Amino acid sequence: MGEVIPAPWGGYIVTSFSLCDRILRDKTWNVPDRQWRTSQADAVRWSSPASQQMAASLPMLNPPRHARERRSLGALFPHKSLAGLRPFVERAVNRLLDRFTDALHQGPADFNTLVSEELPVIAIGEWMGIPSADYGLLRDLTHDQVFAQELFPTPSQLALSDAATMQLRRYFAELIRARREKPGIDPVSAWLKTWDDLEPDRHRADKAVHGLALFMILAALETTAHVLSSAVRLLLEHPEQMEYLRQHPHLIPDAVEEALRYDAPIHMISRIAPADTELAGTLVPAGQMVQLMVGAAHHAPDQYPEPHRFDVRRRASHLAFGAGIHYCAGNALARLEATALLTALLSRPIRLRFSTPPRFAPRVAFRRITSLQLALA
Ligand code: HEM
Repeated sequence: MGEVIPAPWGGYIVTSFSLCDRILRDKTWNVPDRQWRTSQADAVRWSSPASQQMAASLPMLNPPRHARERRSLGALFPHKSLAGLRPFVERAVNRLLDRFTDALHQGPADFNTLVSEELPVIAIGEWMGIPSADYGLLRDLTHDQVFAQELFPTPSQLALSDAATMQLRRYFAELIRARREKPGIDPVSAWLKTWDDLEPDRHRADKAVHGLALFMILAALETTAHVLSSAVRLLLEHPEQMEYLRQHPHLIPDAVEEALRYDAPIHMISRIAPADTELAGTLVPAGQMVQLMVGAAHHAPDQYPEPHRFDVRRRASHLAFGAGIHYCAGNALARLEATALLTALLSRPIRLRFSTPPRFAPRVAFRRITSLQLALA
């Protein structure tokens, strides 16, 4: 239909790789922040607690506030701390795969529930020092909260999202209180220390860290779970490439990148036009929202030869983690988890097959595999 298409519901859809890339890297294109949301006519959609929570979180802040908050995170996963996490992640992967293999001996088992949905919460939970008893709760709340970030949430989905937001707020308020009382060597305690230097008002410092910690959980779970299941699904659909990776395990990181390109966990990223702007012959007026369809851009034929071919040898860059000032702060952790999982899975003597086709949630922005039923081949 073209590179820039007026959306029937307002705003514009951008499908080309080069325009998505250009807009993401252009600092003058804003994210839909609180000010933009409150100026919209559709008050229910943009003023709900869940939407307001997102508006207060890092990816929805514009310069100069964004730079201050992003800097306050410090280097999230510098080489040394990632190397420290790796053995933990590898042990968790092996535990999960043992459990999955045991289940397979009884019949078909859901890789998505038993492995992909577990690993991200275990990894981020360990990193943030969250008790493992709370992992299930945080995972469920994240699934509900994410509806508010979809293109067309129904009123009942928005209500679920609002309820989850309120519960997440309470959970993280308690976490901040506990870390104030007993600081540890975890990132939340470190952010509190940073914010005490940045912000003389302690209540405001706590509020900033509350927003950062809460968003970190929202950002880390469904996205990473999707790439884990999606990579396994794509390799099972391409057994010759699975075998090639078994023979060449050093190429597993390339396979992870190709899975991120082929089926990006986030298909759509929003930006607001800073001024009347002509994009590929279409005039986008100032203040209008554009939806950057990253999932489509990843299949643009002028960017990727034979874009619908999954090819672990492709080694192409992609926008799965965004680009520019909001580039994903947790990409290194997600990549570590996916690489560790595929490495362990392919080194095991088991051979798998689909027992039923994978199922996907009916969504546009956030991809989610809801079931990946596998059996022993
Ligand atoms: C495969 C997994 C992941 C994908 C595909 C993903 C994707 C993205 C994308 C597309 C953005 C940019 C949004 C925008 O430009 O508006 C982003 C931002 C962000 N992500 Fe991720 N993410 C993943 C995992 C994670 C993890 C594991 C963490 C935390 C440990 C994380 C933390 C963040 C943060 C803090 C931001 C905001 C950065 C900013 O606005 O400056 N993400 N992510």
